[in-house]
Amino acid sequence: MKIAVLPGDGIGPEIVAQAVKVLNALNIDLQLQEAHIGGAGYDAEGDPLPASTLKLAQESDAVLLGAVGGWQYDTLPRDMRPERGLLRIRKELGLFANLRPALLYDELASASTLKPEVVSGLDIMIVRELTGDIYFGQPRGITTLANGEREGINTMRYTESEIRRIGRVAFDIAMKRNKKVCSVDKANVLETTELWRQVMIELSKDYPEVELSHMYVDNAAMQLVRAPKQFDVIVTGNIFGDILSDEASMLTGSIGMLPSASLDQNNKGMYEPSHGSAPDIAGKDIANPLATILSAVMMLRYTFNDEANAQRIENAVKKTLAQGYRTGDIYTDGTKKVKCSEMGDAVVAAL
Ligand code: IPM
Ligand code: MG
Repeated sequence: MKIAVLPGDGIGPEIVAQAVKVLNALNIDLQLQEAHIGGAGYDAEGDPLPASTLKLAQESDAVLLGAVGGWQYDTLPRDMRPERGLLRIRKELGLFANLRPALLYDELASASTLKPEVVSGLDIMIVRELTGDIYFGQPRGITTLANGEREGINTMRYTESEIRRIGRVAFDIAMKRNKKVCSVDKANVLETTELWRQVMIELSKDYPEVELSHMYVDNAAMQLVRAPKQFDVIVTGNIFGDILSDEASMLTGSIGMLPSASLDQNNKGMYEPSHGSAPDIAGKDIANPLATILSAVMMLRYTFNDEANAQRIENAVKKTLAQGYRTGDIYTDGTKKVKCSEMGDAVVAAL
């Protein structure tokens, strides 16, 4: 099993180091190879996605990524910014299906800002389309109009085949869960998502056992904090999924707990925490590595079909939380505050 390891920027290297430690502790045959991405790619090779990194990712079975971005890169031309490296690798590898599970560990029910009874037992899978939508749509840019005023342009667009393939992923996942799909759109205003809704309805005919519902994105944002347990699988486009998955992460106590998998047509995948590079706490060894460790779990599960080892790590994470270990973001009175590396050690010990 060949894994490209791309730590990236900010807290990326610290959290990825913990996931690598946990993977190595499994004692299975893994070939890990590191490369630069994001600001680290720009600094080392003048490109947020160096050609050598893309080649390594293409030749690997899976990619484990930390995070990209940092204030020092915010003034670079847009093509040179760290985020562009991330978007390009997603696009180049055809990783159209982004799975972001929001799962609440019982031990963390009191770490959420929502009441424990609202979130306890929560288990939602957000399926976000990742290579289309306003993120990639043309035309785009900032231009100057004849009157000298500047105008910013982005374009929301989806073809029906793009909608259908992400819909299939969501329905297939729902079949293995509680057989409910909620498709989130803004069909009352945006034609792109009116088509999205039509295609989801057509597709649902292939899945008679799955209950399909539809929700406008503004209502979905509200329902997620009002009564999140009504959801099983949520399927939505790139930008709505970006926003709703950050919101959903807070139901689980901290965005530091939310892993993700980005898959292509053949389940080759890139695995990364849903959070960002957190430059404000980078280098302090205080970040929460669990989202990255849980991303490695998703890698074992989805790309390597190694459910046994996936569960071993998952159980080790649960045990670590049950033992009271907490990084600062999930710390509550009476628990043991640990550093990022100590959390990694605790998971390895539990393993
Ligand atoms: C995410 C991030 C990225 C996105 C950024 C860093 C480009 O927010 O993975 O959710 O918007 O997709
Ligand atoms: Mg995001």
